[in-house]
Amino acid sequence: MTRRILDLCSGQGGAARGYADAGFEVVGWDIDPQPRYPYEFHQGDALAVLHDRAYVETFDAIHMSWPCQGFKKGTLWRDSPDLITPGRELALTYDMPWVIENVMEAPLDRARSIVLCGEMFGLRTIRHRRFEPSPGLTLVAPQHTRHKHRTAHSRRREMWDRGYHASFTGDIGTYAGPEGMGIDWMTGNGLSEAIPPAYTWFVGMQLVNVLTTQSIAA
Ligand SMILES: C[S@@+](CC[C@H](N)C(=O)[O-])C[C@H]1O[C@@H](n2cnc3c(N)ncnc32)[C@H](O)[C@@H]1O
Repeated sequence: MTRRILDLCSGQGGAARGYADAGFEVVGWDIDPQPRYPYEFHQGDALAVLHDRAYVETFDAIHMSWPCQGFKKGTLWRDSPDLITPGRELALTYDMPWVIENVMEAPLDRARSIVLCGEMFGLRTIRHRRFEPSPGLTLVAPQHTRHKHRTAHSRRREMWDRGYHASFTGDIGTYAGPEGMGIDWMTGNGLSEAIPPAYTWFVGMQLVNVLTTQSIAA
C-alpha cells in the first residue's frame, strides 16, 4: 500500500527524496517555484495549505521544513518570521503523524526531538538537524559519536579535494552534492537549504512502521 506524505516548504526536494526512498508518494509545496523538485509540486503558502482540511486529509503524514533563517546563527539578519509556531498549532489539529525539521537553534521541543548528523549516514557533512515528532509519535536516532572529520570553511574546493567535509552554506558548488548530501539534482542554493535525503529516509521508515502498525490494529 502506497502512503502519501505532504512535504511543506519543500525547497528543491532533499527531504522529499528520502521519504520517496522510504516508500512514500510525495507531494511538495513551496512559496517559490521549484522547477528542480523531483515529484508532484505546487507553489503556495504552506500555512494556507494546512488550513485546507479536506486536502490535507488525503495524506497519511506531514513533513514541515519551515524556513530557518530567523533562528540560525549567521542568518538572523534576514528577518524571517517564525512559521514553526503557527505551523505546529495547525498540524496539531490533524489526527495523523507529522514531523517538523529544522536547525539546532530553532524553537523545537528539545526533549522530544531527535538530532541527525551526516556522519551517521556516511556523508561528508555534519549538518545537524532536529526532528520534532507529533504527540504520540516517538522517533529514535542512531548513536551520535564523536565527529571523525573536520569541516572546511575557507578554500572549500581545495579542502574538499583534500578530504575535508563541506558545510553546505552559501552557494556551495554542486561538486560536493553527491558525496556530501546524497543529492545530484540541485543548484548550489538548493543544496544550502536542503537536508540530506538519508535523514528523511531514516525518519520515513519509522513513519511507515507506525502507519502499518496502526492499520493492522484498526
Ligand atoms: C529550509 S528550505 C526547505 C528545504 C527542503 N526541505 C529540502 O530538504 O530540500 C525552506 C523552504 O521554505 C520555503 N518557504 C518559506 N516560506 C514559506 C511558506 N510560507 N510556505 C511555503 N514555503 C515557504 C522557502 O522557499 C524554502 O524553499
